[in-house]
Amino acid sequence: MKILVTGGAGFIGGNFVLNMVPRYPEDEYVVLDALTYAGNLETLAGVMEAPNFRFVKGRIQDRKLVDELFAREHFDVVINFAAESHVDRSVEDPGIFLDTNIMGVQVLMDACRKYGIKRFHQVSTDEVYGDLPLDRPDLLFHEDTPLKASSPYSASKASADLLVNAYHRTFGLPATISRCSNNYGPYHHPEKLIPLMISRALANESLPVYGEGRNVRDWLYVTDHCNAIDLIVRKGKDGEVYNIGGHNEYSNLEVVKIILKELDRPESLIHFVKDRPGHDLRYAMDPTKIETELGWKPEYTFATGIRKTIEWYLENRPWYDHILNGDYRKYYAEMYKERK
Ligand code: NAD
Ligand code: DAU
Repeated sequence: MKILVTGGAGFIGGNFVLNMVPRYPEDEYVVLDALTYAGNLETLAGVMEAPNFRFVKGRIQDRKLVDELFAREHFDVVINFAAESHVDRSVEDPGIFLDTNIMGVQVLMDACRKYGIKRFHQVSTDEVYGDLPLDRPDLLFHEDTPLKASSPYSASKASADLLVNAYHRTFGLPATISRCSNNYGPYHHPEKLIPLMISRALANESLPVYGEGRNVRDWLYVTDHCNAIDLIVRKGKDGEVYNIGGHNEYSNLEVVKIILKELDRPESLIHFVKDRPGHDLRYAMDPTKIETELGWKPEYTFATGIRKTIEWYLENRPWYDHILNGDYRKYYAEMYKERK
């Protein structure tokens, strides 16, 4: 099979190709990535020289580039990881989120229709369901939970999901959607909670926890997500949505305290700062469908995954130092100046 992986220089797409390129030497993987602030070729160093891997720089909204790429390559499968992914940035500037996360998906699916593919897979998120109350631990998101996005980011992802469904129903595009909970692990940009807290705790810097730190996320180690996507692409049914999550619910404050304990740093580093506008309270996934229909099971608990993640950050300082020394420093100063 020839597989197009968009957004493959980012956190999850990067982990996906690093795992799948050596696992399936008979398949060819082509990454299309715009290398925005979130894309990093250093992440792909382990596969750059592999005979079944190629990198192409470009934006998924670039109709001409996408058309030429599809005409040349004749992909069997397209997996769309490419997106603007950070909720806080979408509050500052929604426009780019709509452009990439909605229009980019349309361009990709138009090319899929024109050139023919066996499967288009859209990597979506639990955030499309909105949030759950903190005092109802019995409630979970199911595949048929209504879409009720809260942020410009999640609204753009929900819009793309509706569009994928429409292209499947109207044009018969063979398509699947996966909606996953919060990922963590290697190569995660330090703008996001877990790598931000690890890198700042290591530098003995203050840890900005939004509001009271009571918001709950359902954490999944990134390779468990990648394995789920691989399974859906190979065995999932056209037109279906699959929820992915590992029942690892923790409040943000609990997560930060676990990281501090693992790193032997004091809790006095924690600083409560101004909350995120529209901050979703709790996400929690019901993964029964992918477990029973496709036999997926996560390998990691939060305890084993967070230890492995912290070890990775300790052993790979140059990877995140390069990010922290560059543009991201400016972003941090701007984003947190009003939160003190
Ligand atoms: P990321 O921000 O780390 O990576 C995004 C990648 O997409 C980067 O390499 C970037 O350069 C690339 N990109 C951005 N705009 C592009 C464009 N216009 N054309 C081509 N490439 C472009 O994001 P991530 O955390 O790896 O998330 C990947 C996907 O998974 C996203 O669709 C996101 O919505 C979804 N998702 C993320 C999580 C999570 O916890 N991180 C959970 C569920 C779903
Ligand atoms: O649920 C899946 C989603 O998870 C993905 O779709 C998104 O792409 C991904 O970014 C992530 O979204 P979140 O908003 O949940 O992740 P983030 O790491 O930004 O924040 C996690 C929680 O931590 C959230 O409740 C906000 C809080 N937070 C975050 C930052 C960056 C803080 O308290 N302090 C911080 O500095």
